[in-house]
Amino acid sequence: MPFLSLLSILLFGLLSSSQLVISQLLNDQATLLVLAQELKLSGWNGNNSDYCTWPGISCSSNSSIVERLDLSGHGLQGNFTLISELKALKWLDLSSNNFHGIIPPAFGNLSELEYLDLSFNNFGGSIPLELGRLRNLRALNLSNNMLMGVIPDELEDLDKLQDLQLFTNRFNGSIPLWVGNLTNLRVFTAYENELSGVIPDNLGSVSELQLLNLHSNRLEGPIPEAIFYMEKLETLVLTQNRLTGRIPESIGKCKGLSSIRIGNNYLIGGIPREIGNISSLTYFEADNNNLSGEIVTEFSRCSNLTLLNLASNGFTGSVPSEFGSLSNLQELIVSGNSLFGDIPTSILRAKNLNKLDLSNNRFNGTIPEGICNSSRLQFLLLGQNSIRGEIPHEIGNCGKLLELQLGSNYLTGSIPPEIGRIKNLQIALNLSSNHLHGQLPAELGRLDKLVSLDVSNNQLSGSIPTALKGMLSLIEVNFSNNQFSGPIPSFTPFQKSLNLSFLGNKGLCGEPLSMSCGDIDGSSHNAYHHKVSYRIILAVIGSGLVVFSSVTMVVLLFMMRERQEKAGKDEGAADGQISNKPVIVAGNVFVENLQQAIEFEAVAKATMKDSNKLSIGTFSTVYKADMPSGMMLSVRKLKSMDKAIVHHRTKMIREVEKLSKLCHDNLMRPIGFVVFEDAVLLLHQYFPNGTLAQFLQDSKKKPDYKPDWPSRLSIAIGVAEGLALLHHLAIIHLDISSGNVFLDSNLNPLVGEVEISKLLDPSRGTASISAVAGSFGYIPPEYAYTMQVTAPGNIYSYGVVLLEILTTRLPVDEAFGEGVDLVKWVHSAPARGETPEQILDARLSTVSFAWRKEMLAALKVALLCTDSTPAKRPKMKTVVEMLKEITEN
Ligand SMILES: *[C@@H]1O[C@H](CO)[C@@H](O)[C@H](O)[C@H]1NC(C)=O
Ligand SMILES: *[C@@H]1O[C@H](CO)[C@@H](O)[C@H](O)[C@H]1NC(C)=O
Ligand SMILES: *[C@@H]1O[C@H](CO)[C@@H](O)[C@H](O)[C@H]1NC(C)=O
Ligand SMILES: *[C@@H]1O[C@H](CO)[C@@H](O)[C@H](O)[C@H]1NC(C)=O
Ligand SMILES: *[C@@H]1O[C@H](CO)[C@@H](O)[C@H](O)[C@H]1NC(C)=O
Ligand SMILES: *[C@@H]1O[C@H](CO)[C@@H](O)[C@H](O)[C@H]1NC(C)=O
Ligand SMILES: *[C@@H]1O[C@H](CO)[C@@H](O)[C@H](O)[C@H]1NC(C)=O
Ligand SMILES: *[C@@H]1O[C@H](CO)[C@@H](O)[C@H](O)[C@H]1NC(C)=O
Ligand SMILES: *[C@@H]1O[C@H](CO)[C@@H](O)[C@H](O)[C@H]1NC(C)=O
Repeated sequence: MPFLSLLSILLFGLLSSSQLVISQLLNDQATLLVLAQELKLSGWNGNNSDYCTWPGISCSSNSSIVERLDLSGHGLQGNFTLISELKALKWLDLSSNNFHGIIPPAFGNLSELEYLDLSFNNFGGSIPLELGRLRNLRALNLSNNMLMGVIPDELEDLDKLQDLQLFTNRFNGSIPLWVGNLTNLRVFTAYENELSGVIPDNLGSVSELQLLNLHSNRLEGPIPEAIFYMEKLETLVLTQNRLTGRIPESIGKCKGLSSIRIGNNYLIGGIPREIGNISSLTYFEADNNNLSGEIVTEFSRCSNLTLLNLASNGFTGSVPSEFGSLSNLQELIVSGNSLFGDIPTSILRAKNLNKLDLSNNRFNGTIPEGICNSSRLQFLLLGQNSIRGEIPHEIGNCGKLLELQLGSNYLTGSIPPEIGRIKNLQIALNLSSNHLHGQLPAELGRLDKLVSLDVSNNQLSGSIPTALKGMLSLIEVNFSNNQFSGPIPSFTPFQKSLNLSFLGNKGLCGEPLSMSCGDIDGSSHNAYHHKVSYRIILAVIGSGLVVFSSVTMVVLLFMMRERQEKAGKDEGAADGQISNKPVIVAGNVFVENLQQAIEFEAVAKATMKDSNKLSIGTFSTVYKADMPSGMMLSVRKLKSMDKAIVHHRTKMIREVEKLSKLCHDNLMRPIGFVVFEDAVLLLHQYFPNGTLAQFLQDSKKKPDYKPDWPSRLSIAIGVAEGLALLHHLAIIHLDISSGNVFLDSNLNPLVGEVEISKLLDPSRGTASISAVAGSFGYIPPEYAYTMQVTAPGNIYSYGVVLLEILTTRLPVDEAFGEGVDLVKWVHSAPARGETPEQILDARLSTVSFAWRKEMLAALKVALLCTDSTPAKRPKMKTVVEMLKEITEN
C-alpha cells in the first residue's frame, strides 16, 4: 500500500489516531533511509516510498509503523544505533552479520521490543545495563559474540523472558540469582563462557525450563534439584565444569528428558534408580566423574536409550543382563571402572549395538561363543580385563568389526584362523599380553585393511607366515616376546618397523633384526621401490575409512548438540516474509576484499534462470552469476535432498569456512555461501575455460586441433596433487570426474566439489551416500558390496579421469559395447589383441616417440588406479610421484 495515501488517510482523521502515531510514521521513514545508506542495504531505496515492502521490514497491520526488522545473515556492518529510533519495534533480528563494537545502549529505549537477536556477530564490551528496561522482552540472544564481564543484575526485571541465550562469549562472574526468578524461562544457555560459582539453587523452580546448557564453564557446587521440579526439562548439558555432589533423585520426574550430559565433573554417589522413569532418555553421558555403586538395571526401562557412557568412574558389579532389551542402544561404554563377572552375553542381543567398550575393568568370564550372532558390532573393546578361556572360532562371525581389542587378559589356546574372515577389520587387532600359543594363522593375511597388528607377549611359535604380506594396509606390527622362529618375511611394513617389534623371539632372523638368516631367505629386497612415506599415507587413509564407517554416532551427537543450540528456533521460522524477492536466510563471503563485490540477492536470482546453468553434477547444479559490481561467480546450488544442511547450518558452514582457508593450487575453494529459502548456494571463482571434460571433448571437434601432451600430463598431475592433499587431510571426495575438474586460463586444473563431503547429511548413513556417490562410469566396482566411499574408491575415479586424458574418450560410451565402460574397454584391450595406439589418442601418441613413451607410462598408472581390487590401487601420493617421474625421465 502506497505510503503517501495511507499517510493522508491518517492525516484526515478517518482513524482516531494520535499525533504520536503520525510523527512516528514520518520518523520511521527518515530513519530507514539513513540506515539504508549507512548499512548499504541495496533493497532499501527512496524511489519506492512504501518502506513496509522493503526486504526484512514488516509493519503493523493497520498502520505503516515498523514492527519487525529481520536483517540476519546479510554480512552487514556499520553503525545501526539509529534502529533505536524505530520506537514501535517488537522484533529485531541482526544475527549472523559482521557487526562489531558495543551493543548500543540506546536499544534500551525500544520499550515495545519482544525479540532481540544479536547472535553470531563480533560484539564486544559488556551487556549495556539499559537493556534492563526492555520489559516486554521474551527472547534475548547474544550468543556467539565476544562479550565479556558479568551478566548484569539490571536484567533482573525482564520477567517475560522465555529464551536467554548467552553461549560462546567471555562472560565471567556467576550466574545471577534472578535467573531463577524468571517465571517464564524455557531456554537458558550460557555454555562456553568463563562462568564460575554455583548454579542458582532456585533455577527452574518457578519456570518450565526445557533446555539448560551450561557446559564448558567453571561452575561448582551441586546440580540444583529445582531444575527438575517443574518436570519439563528435555535437555540438560553440564559437561566440563567442576560440579560436585550427587545426581538428584528428582531427575526421575522429568519424563521428557531425552539428553543428559554431565561428564567431566566431580560428581559422586550412585545413579538414582529413578533414572528408569525417564522414558524419553536417549543419551546419558556421565563419564569422568567419581560416581560409584552398581550400574542400575533401571536404565533398561529407557527403551529409547541410544548411548550410555559411564566410563572412568568407580562403578562396581556387572553390566545388568536386562540391558539386552535395549533395542536402540548403539554404544555402551563402561571402560575404566571396577566391573567384574562374565561378559554380559545378554547385551549382545541389543540388536543395534555398534560399540561395546568394557576395557580396563575386572571382567573375569570367557568370551561367549555367540559374541557376534546377528550383531552390528564395529568396536569390540575388551582389553585390560581378566578374561579367560579361548577365543571362540565364532569370532569370525563379527563381520562388521573395525577394531578388536583383546589385549592384557588371560586368554589361552591358539588364535582362531576365522579372524581372517573379519575383512572389515582396519583400526586394530590387538591380542597382546595373553597366554596364546600355537602358530599365527596364515588367514590373517586376508586382513588387507588392517593398520595395526599386535600379538606381542604371548607364547606363539612357528614362523611368521609369508601370507601376512596380504595385509597391505599394515603400519604397526608387534610380534615381540613370543617364540617365533625362522626368517622375517620381506615385506615393507615389517622391515620398516623398529626391531623392538620383533625382539624377544629367540629363533627369528632377518631385517629389521640384526641377526641375519644366512641363505634361508636370500631376497631381502623390498617389494616396493618408492620411498614414499608409506606409513603416513596409510594412516591417513585408514582414518578416512573409519570416519566414514562410523558416522552414525557422530551424527547423533551432532544432532543433539544442534538441537540444544537451536532451541526455540520455531519462533523464528514463523516470521512472516516478503514475497517476490529471494529471502536470504544466511550468507557470508569469507574473502574480505570480495565482500563488497558480491551481492547475495543477485547470487540467488542468478540460480533462478536456466540460461545461467553451466553444468549438472551428482550433488549440485552450477550456475554463472553476474554481480552488479561486474564480478563473475560460479554458484553451486546443492540439490534439494540436502535440506538437512539448512537445519544444521552453523556447524556445516563452519566446515565450509575451514575449507575456504585450504590453500592449494589444485583445489577449488569456496569463497562464500548463501542460504535462501530451501537452497544452499556455494560461491566459487568463475572459470571461463570450463571443465576438463569440456576441454577434452572440444578437442575432438576442433579441425585445427594442436596436440599438446605436456599440458595434458600436467593437468593429470595437478588433479592428483589436489586429491593427494585431500587424502592427507582425511577428506574423501564424493564425486571425482572430469566434469568436476575446472581449468583456469593457464590450464591449471582445480578440483571442485571438495566441500560436499563436509556438507552432506550423513545421518542417512554411508549407504545412501554411496547410492548416489559419484558419477556414472567413475564408480568403483567394490561399491556394489561395500557401499562405502573410500580413499581407494577415489583412486579408481581418478584413474578413469586419467584414462579420459589419455584416450579422449567418454567414461561411458555405447561404442564400447553393451555393459562395457572405458575402464573395461581399456583393460580388455590386450585380450582383443589391440595395440596401445588403438587405445591412446593417436593424435597425441603418434606425434613423437618421447610423447608415446610418456603416454604409455601414464597408461600404466591409470591401469593400476583402476584395478578392480581396492587394495592393489596405489595411494594418491604415489600416483603423483609416478606421474612426476614420467616428466623427469
Ligand atoms: C532511483 O531513481 C533515480 C532517479 O529517478 C535513478 O537514477 C536510480 O537508479 C533509482 N534507484 C533505484 C535503486 O532504482
Ligand atoms: C491498530 O490496531 C491495534 C489493535 O489491533 C490498536 O490497538 C491500535 O491502536 C491500532 N493502531 C492504529 C494506528 O489505529
Ligand atoms: C552511531 O550513530 C549515532 C547516531 O546515529 C551516533 O550518536 C554515534 O556516535 C555513532 N557511533 C559511532 C561509533 O560512530
Ligand atoms: C532514550 O530516550 C530518551 C527520551 O526520548 C532520551 O532522552 C535518551 O537519550 C534516550 N536514550 C538513549 C540511550 O538514547
Ligand atoms: C571478569 O573479567 C574482567 C575482564 O577480563 C575482569 O576485570 C573481572 O575482574 C572479571 N570478573 C570476575 C568476577 O571474574
Ligand atoms: C527471587 O524471588 C524470591 C521470592 O519472590 C525473593 O525473595 C528473592 O529476593 C528474589 N531474588 C532475586 C535475586 O530477585
Ligand atoms: C522414542 O523415540 C521415538 C522416536 O523418536 C518417539 O516417537 C517415542 O515417543 C520415544 N519414546 C518415548 C518413551 O519417549
Ligand atoms: C570373578 O570375580 C568375582 C569377584 O572378584 C568372583 O567372585 C568370581 O568368582 C570370579 N569368577 C571367576 C569365573 O573367576
Ligand atoms: C537466538 O535465540 C532465539 C531464542 O532462543 C532463537 O529463536 C534464535 O534462533 C537464535 N538465533 C540464532 C541465530 O540461532
